[in-house]
Amino acid sequence: MGRKKITVVGAGHVGEHVAWFCAMKELGDVVLIDIIEGMPQGKALDMSQAVTLEGWDSRVVGTNDYADTADSDVVVITAGLPRKPGMSREDLLDANAKIVKAVSEQVAKYSPNATIITVTNPLDAMTYLCQKVTGFPYNRVFGQAGNLDSARFRCFIAMELNCSVEDVQAMVLGGHGDSMVPLRTCTNVSGIPVTQLIPDDRLEAIIQRTRVGGGEIVKLLKTGSAYYAPALASVEMVEAVLLDKKRIMPCSAYCQGEYGISDIYVGVPVLVGEGGVEKIVEVQLTDDELAALQKSANAVKETVETMKKLGY
Ligand code: NAI
Ligand code: 2OP
Repeated sequence: MGRKKITVVGAGHVGEHVAWFCAMKELGDVVLIDIIEGMPQGKALDMSQAVTLEGWDSRVVGTNDYADTADSDVVVITAGLPRKPGMSREDLLDANAKIVKAVSEQVAKYSPNATIITVTNPLDAMTYLCQKVTGFPYNRVFGQAGNLDSARFRCFIAMELNCSVEDVQAMVLGGHGDSMVPLRTCTNVSGIPVTQLIPDDRLEAIIQRTRVGGGEIVKLLKTGSAYYAPALASVEMVEAVLLDKKRIMPCSAYCQGEYGISDIYVGVPVLVGEGGVEKIVEVQLTDDELAALQKSANAVKETVETMKKLGY
């Protein structure tokens, strides 16, 4: 059997934390790759020495050479530019499509059996591009956004109620943009519907804060975007695949008629296990929620059309 192999492409803020959390959780051996020479090697060496202190058995290797990533079980793609204040995720389209295309070609060449989790923004379009370039089956390419957006929603609900985050369950669907859809239907605190605990005007304000939750952090940081929660949200997906956990979580998955959405990657509830996206779960939404999800999917479709016009 041997240990699982996880490659993280892009050793910046998100990538280094994905590598670090994978090592901490002993999910497998980790390869951290970036185009900047020395940087992934330095970070990997530091992590190797850190895991030694705790006795965590994960080897972490830094590299600039895809040969070192060969035969990975899971590849997480975080390579690309983050937002600056005032930018939308869509403003990153041209620059990041170029990077994700180049990266996806290398991943397909060196790890033809890997499951790929994309993180680079604009997330849903980059996931679409990665699948197209690799030609991997749809279930083995999916994107991280919903776990992060749902964590933000859960965090704000716990703050509002002054209750444990552990008891808050929530689900955010749709594209990873300001039109994302935090669902009242699927949100509860220890099984109690959130609508019984938080008055509607307060809940609406929390939903709005969730939608622009990434931008709130960009504005505060001024030089980049969030990375602790994005990294852990991605590692939940890595863990679900490598441990075949069969978790149900919102991920950017390829829809073929589910929720009336076709030929696009967008955030929907999926069952995640060793087969990657093993199933898209169709939840009964209210008419308003379904309309909002379809509107969000249309926004993703427009970004993908723009990407195609740019030649990708
Ligand atoms: P960062 O700037 O800290 O790191 C990006 C890294 O990618 C840099 O080290 C850079 O050298 C590397 N890179 C660039 N081109 C490359 C290539 N061809 N091959 C390998 N590495 C390459 O940015 P950060 O904060 O890590 O964000 C990374 C991406 O993730 C951004 O596009 C950001 O918008 C996105 N993101 C997405 C989230 C989501 O929920 N889907 C959440 C947070 C960030
Ligand atoms: C976020 O939502 C930038 O997409 C990233 O934090």
